[in-house]
Amino acid sequence: MSSFISSTSTVPEIAKVPRHIAMIMDGNGRWAKKRFLPRVAGHRKGLETVREMVRACIDLKVDYLTLFAFSSENWRRPADEVSFLMQLFIRAMQREVARMSDNNIRLKIVGRLDRFEPQLVELIEASQKYTENNTGLTLTIAADYGGRWDILQATNELIKSRGADVGVVSEEALAPFLAMAYAPEPDLFIRTGGEQRISNFLLWQLAYAELYFTDVLWPDFDTVALKQAIASYQSRERRFGRTSEQLVNA
Ligand code: IPE
Ligand code: IPE
Ligand code: MG
Repeated sequence: MSSFISSTSTVPEIAKVPRHIAMIMDGNGRWAKKRFLPRVAGHRKGLETVREMVRACIDLKVDYLTLFAFSSENWRRPADEVSFLMQLFIRAMQREVARMSDNNIRLKIVGRLDRFEPQLVELIEASQKYTENNTGLTLTIAADYGGRWDILQATNELIKSRGADVGVVSEEALAPFLAMAYAPEPDLFIRTGGEQRISNFLLWQLAYAELYFTDVLWPDFDTVALKQAIASYQSRERRFGRTSEQLVNA
């Protein structure tokens, strides 16, 4: 179970390099459209950015990288785009998990999973198992993930574990059942593609994350752009509800 500090229960230690970066990878479709290419060409190119981000986070000594790959609402997209994304996900895991493991990466997938085809579910389970003892970067892919789903599934799991008379639910009781209980809360949230919204990503876990929005489209996002986001993070005063004066005195 989780031994990580909750940003609302205790003031966490502020890491100079974010321990956990969560990203909404947005703008693939627009990147393709600008080039008169089909939307899926943007998704394929976006996978190259994923590889670059993984390498960069290892180099920068970030411990947790979480990428929003498919939201619980992305099922609303045209069937052929959904199917392309599923195939891309399958192929990426088939091709890259061994290499990830060589790089000591622990791979985690969070999301509903029960709406995926069995081949994908098997691959997800095998990939997680294959990398579970690795001690380097924890790479989480959020797939068929929704922040509201997560809070509700955690609540239901808590009730299941405690029996019907669970009583008043506390933050401490619920947190261990959240999908990402194995990770500290994100320090830095990055959304590419110009939109300034959370789109049902980590609603609970982003409580005190520093938010960074950039117009750069995901396929164009690179290590230089990541370092700019981290520099922005480092320039901020993380007060967690306290005053600036309290921070100076501490
Ligand atoms: C993000 O890019 C990828 C997924 C949501 C799977 P989009 O496909 O949303 O790209 P835009 O927002 O249409 O440009
Ligand atoms: C958010 O992007 C989800 C992912 C990147 C997986 P969307 O493109 O789906 O978000 P909205 O619809 O613009 O809010
Ligand atoms: Mg989008």
